[in-house]
Amino acid sequence: MMATPIASSISISFFSCVSLFLLLCSSKNGYALGGGERKTLQSNFHSVQVNSLLPASVCTSSTKDKRNGASLKVVHKYGPCSHLHEHNTENAPTVTEVLRRDQSRVNSIQSRLRQNRVKESKATTIPANSGKSLGTGNYIVRIGLGTPKKDFTLVFDTGSDFTWTQCRPCLGSCYQQQEPIYDPSLSSTYTNITCSSQQCSQLSSATGFPPRCFTNTCVYGVRYGDSSFSEGFFGSETITLTPSDVFPNFLFGCGENNNGLFGGTAGLIGLGRDPLSLVSQISSKYGNYFSYCLPSTSSSGYLTFGKGGGSSAGSSLKFTPLLSNSKAPSLYFFDIIGIKTAGSIIDSGTVITRLPPAAYDALKTAFRDQMKQYPMAPAPRLFDTCYDLSKYNSVKIPQISFLFGGNIELPLDTKGILYPINGSQFCLAFARNMAASDLAIFGNVQQQTLDVVYDVAGGKLGFASGGCS
Ligand SMILES: *[C@@H]1O[C@H](CO)[C@@H](O)[C@H](O)[C@H]1NC(C)=O
Ligand SMILES: *[C@@H]1O[C@H](CO)[C@@H](O)[C@H](O)[C@H]1NC(C)=O
Repeated sequence: MMATPIASSISISFFSCVSLFLLLCSSKNGYALGGGERKTLQSNFHSVQVNSLLPASVCTSSTKDKRNGASLKVVHKYGPCSHLHEHNTENAPTVTEVLRRDQSRVNSIQSRLRQNRVKESKATTIPANSGKSLGTGNYIVRIGLGTPKKDFTLVFDTGSDFTWTQCRPCLGSCYQQQEPIYDPSLSSTYTNITCSSQQCSQLSSATGFPPRCFTNTCVYGVRYGDSSFSEGFFGSETITLTPSDVFPNFLFGCGENNNGLFGGTAGLIGLGRDPLSLVSQISSKYGNYFSYCLPSTSSSGYLTFGKGGGSSAGSSLKFTPLLSNSKAPSLYFFDIIGIKTAGSIIDSGTVITRLPPAAYDALKTAFRDQMKQYPMAPAPRLFDTCYDLSKYNSVKIPQISFLFGGNIELPLDTKGILYPINGSQFCLAFARNMAASDLAIFGNVQQQTLDVVYDVAGGKLGFASGGCS
């Protein structure tokens, strides 16, 4: 390893925070731009085969599988490991569409926080027509519902709280899903929640909309950032995660009118911090502790409730404090204090991670400097630093690490650094926020293959590399 002097290194200090997946941060302290400092750093690059950055078209199953707790297999909604798309490939969105949806989700996160700022200053008015949920995730798991149990494939999302599934008789309308639609009349354990019950009143915080009432049955409605929605009866049912993890009286939405970008799944699992989220509802057994590994599109990862998740990483897990924000109490916040790339340190500092403008610009400048031997290519919206790698079999790309609160360093996988647009064009996989006050978001492309542990009771988030492939 050779130490290389870097002519102009850039450093940025963030005293603000950034979030994971759905995490926002109040950047009340803003950030400070430093820089110009001369530093001697090791020049660290990944040598990668260009092909390995592209999504594979065959499913390779992950080998690690010795976990305690209730562990579910996670696959990408549109990848080759998803059984939903074996017969159904026309549903897979284009890259442009994926990026457009990602931006809708981010806009909804940003507006939710702005709206809450307004709300805070003007005392208490409940927003009339905006849901609090953020959008639909890209990763799916299978769980069992009802008695006798039937299996359903659901998207899971740490940015929302409410769990629902499409429900017969689909009084409004149901979109197409792969499995037969859940029918409460075929289950001996389904019950409607009544309008006067205490559970019915919990809907406001879990969905962002006050409940309505229909012939004494409590009615929920939930709307996502990309204008997808579900509405229907609020019910309770037995949910089966694994044969030994069966939970009666799970509160969920029996969706009679549903529309949106759910990609053939039966609905959504909410993993936020609200009392109605799945995590909270099974906390008597698992103590508000869960973990996941989001695999690359062509492999499988896990979603595990209870300790034992991330166990393959064991002592290599590094923890950062889990923070909360009264403006968005159901989201998971943590601090990103900096970003480090080969050659430059950016000191203290959704699909695609969003960064404050100054941090993004510094990262971009450093990255371009280290990639200058490669030809640049036109950039689709959202990106501005793209390369045409069609002439290369292998390339050297700078390593990038995130520095989190608690002073832990997390190196990103190469797939979290360069995002493939097509077979020849690859872009720096980060996007620039519009305003310095917008929240930074640590997106799921950057989380891929990491063990991510949510120790909510212990107040910390853990990370380790190599949780899945
Ligand atoms: C739940 O309530 C709806 C609306 O009142 C009703 O149509 C449905 O039959 C009820 N289901 C059960 C299982 O009671
Ligand atoms: C990749 O996309 C860029 C523009 O987004 C286009 O110019 C180029 O021709 C595409 N290449 C292939 C191989 O599709």
